[in-house]
Amino acid sequence: MNYKVPRGTQDILPSESWKWQRVESIMRDVCQLYRYEEIRTPIFEQTELFTRAVGDTTDIVQKEMYTFEDRGGRSMTLRPEGTAPVVRSFVENKMHGYPDQPVKLFYEGPMFRYERQQAGRYRQFVQFGVEAIGSASPAIDAEVIALALDVYERAGLEELKLVINSLGDTESRTAHREALVAHFEPHIEEFCSDCQSRLAKNPLRILDCKKDHEHPLMASAPELPDYLNEESAAYFREVLAHLDAVGIDYVVDPNLVRGLDYYNHTAFEIMSTSDGFGAITTLCGGGRYNGLTEEIGGPPAPGIGFAMSIERLLLALEAEGKEWTDKPALDAYVVTLGEEAEAKGFALVQQLRRAGVTADTDFLHRKMKGQMKSADRKQASYVIIIGEDEVAKGVVQLKNMETGEQHEMTNDDAIAHIAQMKKEG
Ligand code: HAM
Repeated sequence: MNYKVPRGTQDILPSESWKWQRVESIMRDVCQLYRYEEIRTPIFEQTELFTRAVGDTTDIVQKEMYTFEDRGGRSMTLRPEGTAPVVRSFVENKMHGYPDQPVKLFYEGPMFRYERQQAGRYRQFVQFGVEAIGSASPAIDAEVIALALDVYERAGLEELKLVINSLGDTESRTAHREALVAHFEPHIEEFCSDCQSRLAKNPLRILDCKKDHEHPLMASAPELPDYLNEESAAYFREVLAHLDAVGIDYVVDPNLVRGLDYYNHTAFEIMSTSDGFGAITTLCGGGRYNGLTEEIGGPPAPGIGFAMSIERLLLALEAEGKEWTDKPALDAYVVTLGEEAEAKGFALVQQLRRAGVTADTDFLHRKMKGQMKSADRKQASYVIIIGEDEVAKGVVQLKNMETGEQHEMTNDDAIAHIAQMKKEG
């Protein structure tokens, strides 16, 4: 039997995992600057949380969830996204009572969707996301967007486009919904069965249909901006004004609806505009979800957030030709010749590590040449050589691999020298 990684999932091997760690550290640094604190929720939740929050007419809930019955007969689902779990935790832990509002949270971890595998679309993928809950100020919408863009900028991405729309409040959405029903109803039999059931439950979802997107009624469908009431329109204007104030460029797209039901007011996506990027260009999606805390049994607490996948960020870097190649190198490799030297070398490696120097040595009793090759492959900055002579004299040879210079010195001097050079960068 040959075992394979499940379809739509991937192993992140050491040749790639260092890049993931770098993205993660950028995210953490940016969140620290904006004072978003980490929250970790379980990988699985009660299924009903997602059907309620994400919406039972969405593709995610209808087609993509990994749902199973646990041994106690409860229906559980591997989280397809992070907002519902975070809002569940906000309500459950009464975070609305925290003195500091809004509560600003970030998360990072695997999400699961049974989707058709293609470039940039996986069944297990890692989302980094933030949720700011407890404020209905347009400024926080702009802050959340700025945070996402800062992460991309620090990662080195340049070819980006922010697309934004307003879905309006409940009143605006009801007016738009009625207009959509009136528009599609007379011809609904020309649409797929999903769209037919969406007509009554959530006609906005029809605009998101992957099968019927070329139907002529799609292009002429009533557009949300025409149905925004004054309050919603004013809110949207303020969000845009805040973006203008900090010099963030955007494109307003009245057709941006997003694939989850909890959104209202601000909805946005950040796309890659790089030619090298595949068919899926959305790197990040988010929006406002006032009313979601009430929907899952809590007090009112308006929220906004986004999520981005680390896979797509790395693909975008590659597409822009900015793939990272500067894998963190090894500071020192200790080459030893002979049994006594090996014991001394092993002790030296530990001393180096304690001094904050990344160090490695040979574990295969290779000859000098083999060990030097290994040091090269690991891109060691220094090699420390201990042979029989060095053991006898109580010294080591320190070789700078960049300049080729080699000097004899004591153990302690070699450690101090490398530690100092590392500090100086
Ligand atoms: P979403 O648009 O479903 O929103 O997903 C957000 C991001 O997750 C996408 O833009 C993409 O980067 C990534 N993503 C989604 N599905 C896949 C997949 N199959 N493979 C790889 N990456 C994927 C949400 O999940 C919302 N919870 C975002 C949010 C947070 N809204 C408010 N707060």
